[in-house]
Amino acid sequence: MPDAIFAHPRLAPIYDAFDGSRSDLTAYLGIADELGARSVLDVGCGTGSLAVLLAESGRKVMGVDPAEASLEVARGKDRAGRITWVLGGAATVPVLDADLAVMTGNVAQVFLSDEDWKCVLQSIHTALGTGGHLVFETRRPEQRAWEEWLTDDAYTVLDIPGVGAVEQRREVTDVSLPYVSFRHTYRFLSDGATVASDSTLRFRSREEAEQSLDACGYRVRDVRDAPDRPGREYVFIAERTT
Ligand SMILES: C[S@@+](CC[C@H](N)C(=O)[O-])C[C@H]1O[C@@H](n2cnc3c(N)ncnc32)[C@H](O)[C@@H]1O
Repeated sequence: MPDAIFAHPRLAPIYDAFDGSRSDLTAYLGIADELGARSVLDVGCGTGSLAVLLAESGRKVMGVDPAEASLEVARGKDRAGRITWVLGGAATVPVLDADLAVMTGNVAQVFLSDEDWKCVLQSIHTALGTGGHLVFETRRPEQRAWEEWLTDDAYTVLDIPGVGAVEQRREVTDVSLPYVSFRHTYRFLSDGATVASDSTLRFRSREEAEQSLDACGYRVRDVRDAPDRPGREYVFIAERTT
C-alpha cells in the first residue's frame, strides 16, 4: 500500500509542487544516453516526471507505480499517450525485454524487508533484456540525512494553481536504523482540510546494495554520485548478467 503522499487523491496532485525543481533527472537522461537505452521501464514512476522526459527524447517508456492517484497525474502530462502506464508494484512488473530500468527519487528505499527488495530485483531482472541495466539511487546512510530532517524547519506554504495555499509540515517520528519514519501533514487553506501521510524508508549501505545485486544476477558496473546532491547519494549502475 503506497503512502498517502503518493496515493491520496488530494496529495498526489500537489506532489510535484512540493518536490520542486527536478534537476536530479538530467543525470538519468545522460545515463540512458550513455547506455544507448531505447526502451525504459520507470519503476515507481510516481507522477511521471522522468518518464515524460524519456518519452520526449524518443524512447519507448513504461511507467509502473502502485499509486493510482500519482498515475492519474502522470497520465495528464502524457497528452500524446506515448507512455504505457501500469498500476502495480515493482515486484510484479511486466516482462518486456527493456534496455534499462530506473528507480529515481530514492524509490529503492521504500522496500523495507530483505525479502521485498530481493523480489523487486528479481522482478526487474526478468523485465530486462539480456545485457539490460538497472539504475537506481539510495541515500548514503553515513550522511545521516534524518538528523537534518530532525532539526530543519520543515514547514512550507505554497500557493498552488487550481488548489490554493497549502501548508506542509514534516516531522521525524522514529529512527530505528536502518529504518527512519516520518510524517508529512498538509493543510489546505481553501477548506481547512488536513491530510497526513506516514512513511518509512530503509537506509541500505553500499555493501548491502552491491551484495543484493550480485545475489540477484546483476554485475555492478559503477557506483556514482548524484550531481545535484554531491556526497549524499549512491547511484548504482548494474547490468543484468544471467
Ligand atoms: C519518492 S516517489 C518517487 C517517484 C518518481 N520515481 C520520481 O522520481 O518522481 C516514490 C514512489 O515509489 C512508489 N512506490 C511505493 N511502493 C512501491 C512499490 N511497491 N513498487 C513500486 N513503486 C512503489 C510510490 O507510489 C511513489 O510514486
